[in-house]
Amino acid sequence: MPTGFQQLGGETVTGTFVLSVFTAVLGSLQFGYNIGVINAPQKRIEGEYNATWIHRYGAPIPAGTLTSLWSLSVAIFSIGGMLSSFCVGFVSEWLGRRKAMLINNMFAFIGGSLMAFSKLCRSFEMLILGRFVIGVYCGLASGLTPMYVGEIAPTSLRGALGTLHQLAIVTGILIAQILGLDQLLGSEDLWPLLLGVTVVPTVLQMSFLPFCPESPRFLYIVRCQEHQAKRGLKRLTGRLDVGDMLAEMKEEKRKMEMERKVSILELFRSPVYRQPIIISILLQLSQQLSGINAIFYYSTSIFMKAGVQSPVYATIGAGVVNCAFTVVSLFLIERMGRRTLHMIGLGGMCVCAVIMTAALALLDSIPWMSYISMLAIYSFVAFFEVGPGPIPWFFVAELFSQGPRPAAMAVAGFCNWTANFIVGMCFQYVANLCGPYVFLIFAALLLFFLIFTFFRVPETRGKTFDQIAADFHQHGEGGMIDMDLNKLSTELEPFGGDRDLN
Ligand SMILES: *[C@@H]1O[C@H](CO)[C@@H](O)[C@H](O)[C@H]1NC(C)=O
Repeated sequence: MPTGFQQLGGETVTGTFVLSVFTAVLGSLQFGYNIGVINAPQKRIEGEYNATWIHRYGAPIPAGTLTSLWSLSVAIFSIGGMLSSFCVGFVSEWLGRRKAMLINNMFAFIGGSLMAFSKLCRSFEMLILGRFVIGVYCGLASGLTPMYVGEIAPTSLRGALGTLHQLAIVTGILIAQILGLDQLLGSEDLWPLLLGVTVVPTVLQMSFLPFCPESPRFLYIVRCQEHQAKRGLKRLTGRLDVGDMLAEMKEEKRKMEMERKVSILELFRSPVYRQPIIISILLQLSQQLSGINAIFYYSTSIFMKAGVQSPVYATIGAGVVNCAFTVVSLFLIERMGRRTLHMIGLGGMCVCAVIMTAALALLDSIPWMSYISMLAIYSFVAFFEVGPGPIPWFFVAELFSQGPRPAAMAVAGFCNWTANFIVGMCFQYVANLCGPYVFLIFAALLLFFLIFTFFRVPETRGKTFDQIAADFHQHGEGGMIDMDLNKLSTELEPFGGDRDLN
């Protein structure tokens, strides 16, 4: 199946539908924005922490305390995300998708305001609390957005629209990096505004959501409100007869009722799920422990140490590479196996990490090494978007069928955020300790995940759940599993059909 966008012609796309998708995706944009936003103003905010300390205690802040406070400000975002991503399933069923998004905006509003006024109130506690609250928003948004978009999209567009979430995240990171320029909002006086800008998409989303219909799939499948579901479908498609879509949802509901929901505990106890859940967890860890967020949180200071003349522009460059390769990977994912792409990504990142380390170590004797390290960082980001960025989520969706999938998603999300927290919290310390050799740690981890993927991870692309289960069975404790490179399957949708419908 081709890119999906080509099929836009086949579906009538209504204004309501475009508005609903746009409104939901503002959540992903904010998620990206808050990942990227603390990168450029690090020195300014650290200066402010120091000034506050002097104001309160009459002495400059000890260097160790400053590192702790800054690392906490960066990483507490992930604690918020971890807690709230666990609640996505519950909140989205309790309030409905649309009301959940609406109420979630309260968190963005509070978090953004706390951060924006922290300087005025001379309180780093407010900034740290704000980062936590905005993390809570992002954890919910990163679950609710793909869910809502996946549910309102017609089947033929679901794959293409599913990628909008990913694209909006990387765009958000890039916007944050650009606004972080000294000439824009990254200056001494304006950085509180840079952190507070996140309330702008919040206000937009809040004012548009009342005009978006609730997800018809949710109304029908969860709430059993056929009449309201029909009305929503009519608004979204602009068609008067939505009988075929309703029939499709009926079929989906029937299938869901056939499969029992599996709890998280069962996931680990049952031998059927044990191996898939271990694979899912390790793949999530491979995404975060690859060191990508060391780049997105700390690239400006990394570039500074690498002797790059304008580190903020170099950071923007990394954002551009990130966006470009997210688009590239959308095309690659349709043509190559998940397992292959993941291994290419991990291998490439590992090599880049080694080159980066060598370049940083040689910087004193060979000045042009700063260009090599910049190139290595850009390639590192590019390889991330080819493999470890998008692929782990595909695996969770494809290794588990409807019944165990919500539990598996929750476990995967939890591991992802936890690893994100560990990297955000520890990177600065380890970097201070190891100097240029810090990326060797990531290289070693990447090598480990590469070996693990080679020996333990099956190819899932174009296979049914039964075939994948049979693979696990046949190869016993997971030996080598056929690479499936030339089996360019066209029978399945590129994005695994209903991967976002849980
Ligand atoms: C804090 O500010 C003081 C006075 O401006 C300065 O001497 C000191 O180096 C700063 N401390 C840190 C850790 O940046």
